[in-house]
Amino acid sequence: MIKKVCKSEKGLCGEITIPADKSISHRSVMFSSIAKGKCNITNFSSGADCRSTLKLFQALGADIEYIDEKTLSVLSFGNLEKPNTELDAGNSGTTMRLVSGILAGQNFDSTIVGDESLSKRPMKRIIEPLTLMGAEIDSAEGHAPLKIYGRHLKGIIYPSELASAQVKSCVLLAGLFADGETTFVEPHPSRNHTELMLDYLGADIVAEGNSVSIWRSELEAKDIEIVGDISSAAFFITAGLIIPNSDFVIRNVGINPTRSGIIDVVKRMGGGIDVQNERIVSGELCADINVKYNDSLKGCIIEGDDIPRLIDELPVIAVLASQAEGQTIVKNAEDLRNKESDRIKCLVSELIKVGVNIKETDDGFVVHGKNILIGDSELECYHDHRLAMSYYVAGLICEKEIGINGFEWTNISFPEFESLVSKLS
Ligand code: S3P
Repeated sequence: MIKKVCKSEKGLCGEITIPADKSISHRSVMFSSIAKGKCNITNFSSGADCRSTLKLFQALGADIEYIDEKTLSVLSFGNLEKPNTELDAGNSGTTMRLVSGILAGQNFDSTIVGDESLSKRPMKRIIEPLTLMGAEIDSAEGHAPLKIYGRHLKGIIYPSELASAQVKSCVLLAGLFADGETTFVEPHPSRNHTELMLDYLGADIVAEGNSVSIWRSELEAKDIEIVGDISSAAFFITAGLIIPNSDFVIRNVGINPTRSGIIDVVKRMGGGIDVQNERIVSGELCADINVKYNDSLKGCIIEGDDIPRLIDELPVIAVLASQAEGQTIVKNAEDLRNKESDRIKCLVSELIKVGVNIKETDDGFVVHGKNILIGDSELECYHDHRLAMSYYVAGLICEKEIGINGFEWTNISFPEFESLVSKLS
């Protein structure tokens, strides 16, 4: 489907509530399905990725029902059942990688598959630590499908070269079913939703600096309310900063410090952003964010510890950087090439078409602002939801209409995206 996007002439104003965080929604279903008891999950994501997780745990015997559009009830006896079909993770890397950690320690064998895009993404990063723990996994040369033989696992200390919450969570979840202590150490802190939620549900888990340790634990079901997704809010934060006359409030945004790198980058660039009403919801920090147009943004360097804190926001940060004076340099982000698309190559090739002065580097990109975006072109989203929405934001400041091919991929994480843009228009 080709979506046409025109320049926003009068700016974005009013207020919106950002829908549920995808990472936390996945974890809420996974962990409630292995916990003992009954709970309600409120404000569950309506994206296709989280539905993949939900269906997968239904296939593993968890009793999960929709009470209304965004509320689930989950009943589990603390153990999963051998599935009688292949488990389908769809397009979702989080589903495949986290669930593999759980499956590795069960007393049954299972096979987890994904769509074409997910089947191209690297799984060696989880197969390696799980194998060290005693797991046995067959893969297509490090890719899905993964046949996972349930085994008795032992704890390990795993110094990871990669700062990845998916790998960390996979190892910690396997550690829940393993003998002894399992410790994961990473080079930069990645998102800690797994640690927070496992702690909330009573797991024996300790996090200190870049290291987390877990011991075999039984989880106890508890109600979970899911905060809004800062990765979804990022499209609106950017749109508000770059579209003249914009001034609006985004309510209920999760601002967990391991996820809120975009707020720091916007401040570094001199952007008008005001974080208000900070509060804790089911263990996660959340707030309302006021965003205002700013025509004096400055480029900055984004690297090292910043990267895992805003990894999913980098495509839309490229759009933001196109409206900032001077250079914005993104380094140490080579893992962007392993997302739903090669987000360095694809992003650069498409943003150049609308007039962004952006260059690809091995581990990121460099944007030279300020650019006048002409538009008048068709952009390919390469089956990648975040690229589709980043282009849409660029389209709102292009002089001439743009087309986005494959816009329906936004349903993976944020089906409400366009209706929320309309609400502010
Ligand atoms: C996620 C972790 C990140 C992120 C992904 C969601 C998670 O991936 O890019 O969208 O929910 O744990 P990596 O752990 O591979 O960096």
